Amino acid sequence: MRMYDIIMKKRNGGELTDEEIRFFIEGYTKGEIPDYQVSSLMMAIFFQKMTAKETLTLTLAMADSGEKLDLSAIKGIKVDKHSTGGVGDKTSLALTPIVASLGVPVAKMSGRGLGHTGGTIDKLESFEGFSTSISNETFINNVNSIGIAIMGQTADLAPADKKLYALRDVTATVDNMSLIASSIMSKKLAAGADSIVLDVKTGSGAFMKSEEDSFALAREMVEIGRNAGRKMSAVISDMDQPLGNAVGNAIEVIEAIDTLKGKGPADFTELVYTLGAQMLINGEVAPDVPTARKMIADTVASGKALEKLAEFVKAQGGNEAAVYDTSLLKLAEHCIEVKAPESGYVSHIDCDEIGICSLILGGGRETKESVIDLSVGILLEKKVGDYADAGQTIAKIYANDLKKAEVAIDRFLKAYHFSNEEVKAPALIKGII
Ligand code: URA
Repeated sequence: MRMYDIIMKKRNGGELTDEEIRFFIEGYTKGEIPDYQVSSLMMAIFFQKMTAKETLTLTLAMADSGEKLDLSAIKGIKVDKHSTGGVGDKTSLALTPIVASLGVPVAKMSGRGLGHTGGTIDKLESFEGFSTSISNETFINNVNSIGIAIMGQTADLAPADKKLYALRDVTATVDNMSLIASSIMSKKLAAGADSIVLDVKTGSGAFMKSEEDSFALAREMVEIGRNAGRKMSAVISDMDQPLGNAVGNAIEVIEAIDTLKGKGPADFTELVYTLGAQMLINGEVAPDVPTARKMIADTVASGKALEKLAEFVKAQGGNEAAVYDTSLLKLAEHCIEVKAPESGYVSHIDCDEIGICSLILGGGRETKESVIDLSVGILLEKKVGDYADAGQTIAKIYANDLKKAEVAIDRFLKAYHFSNEEVKAPALIKGII
């Protein structure tokens, strides 16, 4: 088999066979096929697209390219959750202790990632001493004893995707539906859960800006998962403005803890309930959505979900006292209030821009080597649909560097738009598959 023939076949609109897809994935992972040929194939796929069958084979080949987590030593149905990412997305921090406290084992691999804020792992490191560098054995033991463990994604999980994603990133071939779906699902399948609940974001702060594309991506990933024998659900949720009020790292942890105390922002709480219900149903601990939502409300009201977070933080070396006293989670030295430049209803927030403000403050990574400042961040006091008088505080910026704060505030103000007419807040949940 020759890579040249595979490229030409796809360039001319042909459907690649399983053997051809496995040949290029195996050859590329081993370093036998050069970047220039694979980037050419990626561009051909970008224009000619892939069929559902090709997409499934690509996903499975990438999942098979490295280590696969064996979770069979964990009792019960393992339900994983994945978000396509967005601004202020701290969902896993609240969701995982909730479902763990209700008997769904959480054995989750999370990443750091590049972006506006850190990934789940970075956020968890706001707890002093917390570590996700745990052995596979500790990981499994912790899930069996306390019902929850989160570890860092190992380098050997779907290495083909790692290489391919990095190549796509520099060859303008990321935003192809099949390539995104197979990239995400290859890692999820290799991570070993029996069921996967996807949170597919839509809007100005999401990967997929239109609802149509977001639904299509969700359907594609659900189909891949089902064909690979996993129980799947997907929630399509709004990312046209930041989720909740907090954007950053420690500040998002505080908001997640508040939510576990029943005092979280309404939109974030609703997303946690919606995803949680799907996880409880797929984990076969709840028969339907109303029962699942009642179980979530009860575990939050009883304090059991909060206790589960404390148990989890302690088991991975973190200071669990911060779960009960969030003043132990360090926030930046300066807190600057941002005032509304005019009176009116907030009509639109350029969501990505708020993420970039967090990045400017030092809360995210520009390169893999960047060191995150976990203490900086943004607390929104007004969101779409809220009314603000001119001069009223619309947000608080937590900064350690006043020069960076100045740049971030300038950008923040440009991202907020006001209207004299009343504005309806966007619906948070767009659909469930
Ligand atoms: N996230 C991934 O893991 N892969 C993609 O291709 C896009 C987003």
